[in-house]
Amino acid sequence: MRGAIIVGASSGLGRELARIMASDGWSLGVAGRNLAALEALRAELGPGIRVRSLDVTRTDSVASSLNALLEDLGRVDCVVLSSGISPYNRRLQWALEESTIATNVAGFAACANWAAHHFFERKAGHLVGISSVASLRRSPAVPAYNASKAFVSHYLEGLRFNLEKYGVSVTEIRPGYVDTPMTEGQKGMFWVVQAPAAARQIYSAIMRRKKVAYVPRRWALVALAARLAPGALYRRLSN
Ligand SMILES: NC(=O)c1ccc[n+]([C@@H]2O[C@H](COP(=O)([O-])OP(=O)(O)OC[C@H]3O[C@@H](n4cnc5c(N)ncnc54)[C@H](OP(=O)(O)O)[C@@H]3O)[C@@H](O)[C@H]2O)c1
Repeated sequence: MRGAIIVGASSGLGRELARIMASDGWSLGVAGRNLAALEALRAELGPGIRVRSLDVTRTDSVASSLNALLEDLGRVDCVVLSSGISPYNRRLQWALEESTIATNVAGFAACANWAAHHFFERKAGHLVGISSVASLRRSPAVPAYNASKAFVSHYLEGLRFNLEKYGVSVTEIRPGYVDTPMTEGQKGMFWVVQAPAAARQIYSAIMRRKKVAYVPRRWALVALAARLAPGALYRRLSN
């Protein structure tokens, strides 16, 4: 049976993806800080789902938690990293910047590094990371978030270049706006999709072993426009 670990499965995209993968026959290990939410997911999806508490900001405990899930499952073919935070921070409070970097950069890299080593040893496997359309440009309201997603994007590309010759796939998912707890109450969103629909598209990208996937696909056009927009125009639109 194919085995997968999803980090950040207690809500939003990670939880929806867990539902889809479980229904498609994957044996799953799920991780995050909110054990009650993960246990509720297990109650819904069945006792075969393995649950581990994991705070990715405690990077020294990432490997032991993921090793424990690997032991629980017996084999892990796919690791999906969906954990992330995006606190609104126009006033640039350092505590918020610091926790964003700890979660989305250091925590993400610690989990991705564990997966890279595991798949390198097996000479097979699939690492999937959720970055964002936000990875492509800067933001005055969530500066650390956009910068952290640029890190995720570059880090995954580096791992792909390193690992693909050993038979390991790396997929970067770049969602636009998705209705999840992360975006609750956020103003100015457009083209918002529901989490189950976004997760279906993410799963399709995983199954096709896409290198980079925009969710939904029309965000590729916005990404192109964002890349081509002159800096001054982009800055005016961002403020
Ligand atoms: N929603 C959007 O519009 C959107 C757009 C682009 C990209 N994304 C990205 O998609 C991913 C999923 O976000 P979402 O929208 O599904 O938001 P969400 O519902 O808030 O889910 C975030 C997940 O991250 C986990 N998490 C946060 N901090 C963690 C930590 N220190 N250790 C372990 N897990 C942690 C949370 O679990 P616990 O609280 O249990 O730890 C939760 O399961 C994120 O990487 C986000 O940046 C979202």
